[in-house]
Amino acid sequence: MRAKVGSRPERPRGPGRASPRRRTEAAPGETDRHGKIRAPEGEDSGERLQKFLARAGIASRRQCEALIAAGRVQVNGQVVRTPGTRVRPGRDHVRVDGEAVRAGDAVTLLLHKPAGYITSRSDPQGRPVVTSLLPAAGLPRLFPVGRLDWDTEGLLLLTNDGELAHALTHPRFGVRKVYHAKLKGHPTPETLALLTRGVRCDGEPLKALAVVPLHPTRQNAWLAVTLEQGRYRQVRRMCEAVGHPVLKLIRVALGPLRLGALPRGQWRPLTPDELHNLRAIVLATRPSGPGGEPATGRRGRVLRTSRTRERP
Ligand code: URA
Repeated sequence: MRAKVGSRPERPRGPGRASPRRRTEAAPGETDRHGKIRAPEGEDSGERLQKFLARAGIASRRQCEALIAAGRVQVNGQVVRTPGTRVRPGRDHVRVDGEAVRAGDAVTLLLHKPAGYITSRSDPQGRPVVTSLLPAAGLPRLFPVGRLDWDTEGLLLLTNDGELAHALTHPRFGVRKVYHAKLKGHPTPETLALLTRGVRCDGEPLKALAVVPLHPTRQNAWLAVTLEQGRYRQVRRMCEAVGHPVLKLIRVALGPLRLGALPRGQWRPLTPDELHNLRAIVLATRPSGPGGEPATGRRGRVLRTSRTRERP
């Protein structure tokens, strides 16, 4: 309806507008005076605030409850101190320490890559690519984090979170990767020591952080090899250099993530705890502030790094 010339513009009415008299009850979707978001009638009533925050990688659910209780979380512009408050992702505006939180923007999946797949979204030679193991619909465009050789199996992350991919793959940050390698023959302890002391391959110094012998078979040794470097075909080239070519290679861990019992060719989303631990790596890889203070997150919070949890 057009406003009459010279008249005051009409005040909008509707579910989001309180009555001009003293407001006693929040409208659907608004925060009431107890800090609770009122669920919209007959609609999805959202999810608990601490779960929403944990899913967004802010912190563990328990830690998010503490953030809420400390008054550091706002929903639709109001501080909310009640952890059970329900929010509707994509509709309610959630901020932590003043910075917007969007759960659901970033998608990260853990895939058990089988041998015989290229770590890429496409291959000019038409070989199978890892993304063909994901559903054709319902996921955003995801990219592999780092690479596994065509013939290497194991833990591969796929994400649309560029910052995460950078933190996990940049050599400067030295995120640990653990491989189980089946070797031709049985290397002596002295030979194994060469791998951690460092070997030169094509003029390039390569070194493992740790090498642990696993169950041997009659013909073969199995090793757990931990790398902080991530050079091209590093495990294969190092083992070859000491006279024991790799016959099979499986990545079983990447930073805080474990392959576990996920079957070959299957994938799963990360758990909130895993996302939280990855987020801590991202924050820890940011430069320190000018006074040498710990790195702060995008949301300005000082977070403890979980690198100490990063065991092989
Ligand atoms: N080292 C290798 O040799 N190959 C891989 O795929 C990963 C690490």
